[in-house]
Amino acid sequence: MAAMTHVLGLDLANPVVVGSGLLTDQERNIRRLLETGAGAVVTKTIHPSPPTGLDERILRLPTGMINSTTYSKRSVGHWLGILRSLAHDGLPVIASLHADTPAELAELAVQVEATGCRALELGISCLNEEAGLDDSAERVHSYTAAVRAATPLPFSVKLASGEGLNARATAAARAGADAVTISDTLPAAVVHPETGELELGGVFGYSGPGIKPLVLASLWQLRRAGFQLPVLASGGVQSGRDVHDYLRLGAVVTQVYSALHTDMYDTLARIVAETAETAETAGTAGTAGPSDPALEARRPEQVQS
Ligand SMILES: Cc1cc2nc3c(=O)[nH]c(=O)nc-3n(C[C@H](O)[C@H](O)[C@H](O)COP(=O)(O)O)c2cc1C
Repeated sequence: MAAMTHVLGLDLANPVVVGSGLLTDQERNIRRLLETGAGAVVTKTIHPSPPTGLDERILRLPTGMINSTTYSKRSVGHWLGILRSLAHDGLPVIASLHADTPAELAELAVQVEATGCRALELGISCLNEEAGLDDSAERVHSYTAAVRAATPLPFSVKLASGEGLNARATAAARAGADAVTISDTLPAAVVHPETGELELGGVFGYSGPGIKPLVLASLWQLRRAGFQLPVLASGGVQSGRDVHDYLRLGAVVTQVYSALHTDMYDTLARIVAETAETAETAGTAGTAGPSDPALEARRPEQVQS
């Protein structure tokens, strides 16, 4: 058995968390993913005014998938009912939230807190909105600070690997985040072999095994620079070995998403079982992270880069 893991105020039975996405847009799925053994589940990102009229699709690639989806199309009111019911049953569910402005996101966080939900993830780094996303430390700071001022609930800020990540993660830490989630999908493009045009009509979010080495590198660089907050790692997890790779580099838990688009429940059960088996041989059961003595030795201030 994998040891209990503590993150965002939740005690998880294991470090395999189902990440936010289409598969976590329904209460039924969330409940069944937990019954199947997920340590926790992150909801699809809830947004008071999700974009409408976009062509939201998924394209499978040999090394993962590219998707042009944005936020849940279910209303906030509908989600508050779901979160109330999940909280009533004491389930480890993390509500993923975003909004058009920091003030609206803070207001949404307060509404979600009232449902009894115990942890949040700020899904502020989706690049699939029409204008794309030019993220910055200042933007991350404003969203994070607004939510911190509005609720005592523990929350993680989800960021995308890439340029300026250390500065964005540091901005989240300084503005009061309890953890960061790395990484959201990364910008990618696929050319249609016949038309020569970009598939899905542009640059959209890439996920799956192709991004795992990039996310591992980000995690390593953050830790080497002395970043101290817990990191929830997300990117290309398909096996227990992948989970332990992230734990060994200092993640407190890992999220798994794209892999579950194939045989969702069976795949999750396999990854959870492999994670427990690997923990016995590798000695990593969600105990790495800032308390890891090897990392403590390099300790340090939050960094800018
Ligand atoms: C179809 C699809 C929908 C997603 N929707 C969301 C979302 O609503 N909010 C969010 O924070 N991340 C979303 N993600 C990102 C995943 O949660 C995850 O961070 C990313 O895909 C990397 O992990 P993976 O390689 O295990 O999929 C989505 C990913 C995919 C493929």
